[in-house]
Amino acid sequence: MTDFHLLITNWYRQNKRDLPWRLTTDPYKIWLSEIILQQTRVDQGLSYYLKFVQEFPTIQALANASEQQVLALWQGLGYYSRARNLHFTAKTISNELNGKFPNSFTSLKKLKGIGDYTAAAIASFSNNEITPVVDGNVYRVLSRVFNIATPIDSSQGKKLFYELASELISKENPGEFNQSIMEFGALQCTPVKPNCADCVLSEKCLALSNNTITERPVKAKKTKIKNRYFHYAVLSNESQIVLQKRIEKDIWQHLYQFPVIETDGPAHPSELHFGLKTKDAISVSEEFVHILSHQKIHARFYRFELSNKKLDQEYNIVNFKELDEYPLPRLIDKFLEKEI
Ligand code: ADE
Repeated sequence: MTDFHLLITNWYRQNKRDLPWRLTTDPYKIWLSEIILQQTRVDQGLSYYLKFVQEFPTIQALANASEQQVLALWQGLGYYSRARNLHFTAKTISNELNGKFPNSFTSLKKLKGIGDYTAAAIASFSNNEITPVVDGNVYRVLSRVFNIATPIDSSQGKKLFYELASELISKENPGEFNQSIMEFGALQCTPVKPNCADCVLSEKCLALSNNTITERPVKAKKTKIKNRYFHYAVLSNESQIVLQKRIEKDIWQHLYQFPVIETDGPAHPSELHFGLKTKDAISVSEEFVHILSHQKIHARFYRFELSNKKLDQEYNIVNFKELDEYPLPRLIDKFLEKEI
């Protein structure tokens, strides 16, 4: 299709959202926006982007921050290893590249947390390099317009879609082309109820004429969801609460939570041994269900009165006033908002 790039960029010029990261060619800011947007939708990501740019206007400022500061700003977005990689990469660029953020695909790929997609996005948006981006939006748009049934999560599919995007990308305005196809996927060719009735590609769209829109894109594997059962001991008095840092290489690494026991399945309170007797709990919460990309967390909170007994070193006794300084998983935050 020879005019694909024209149709899609014309559509973009008329329909695009005004987003702050589209007004800059600073690779640092584009990188920030892309890492945030891998984690969340544009409407939620926008406030995080603005907070990060304000707090850390330069790569140097981000490199000089503490990990705890970065995690606290990231709080609520989830998948905290992204935030730790972000901080790690800022320090690497500051120490090893003289604080100069690279803007070519090859040099970007060498950095931690920057894969093909992010490198292509930064190189094309900041430097107009002809590097196609292939994200979920792009898979959806191309699999529909060209009615491709090859699974997008197979190596054959990845290669095929990458090659197709490489052929289609505008050689004059590759950055704008990449923005256009992603925006088209986000606003027009949406996962459910795409607006095919009013679409600049409707006459050419092979999935539309073959009635396969809802079947595209094809995925080979279903995402497996693991159930996990967390039982939290919430020790507090009127001014203080006990937190513990998660150190294991697992979800929420380096975030703070309450002392926890994990069981293989749902457990009855009497079966738990916190070191405290569960019968002494002041209250036991309802089950909180918290969904992550590959895990479903079933959490219950057992509240105890914090006594003067000396606690192990791994526990932090935190004043409620200072709670803001501790990065918390959204689940813990939700519990605190609801019950404390
Ligand atoms: N999602 C990922 N990157 C994006 C961008 N640059 N603009 C809008 N949505 C995006």
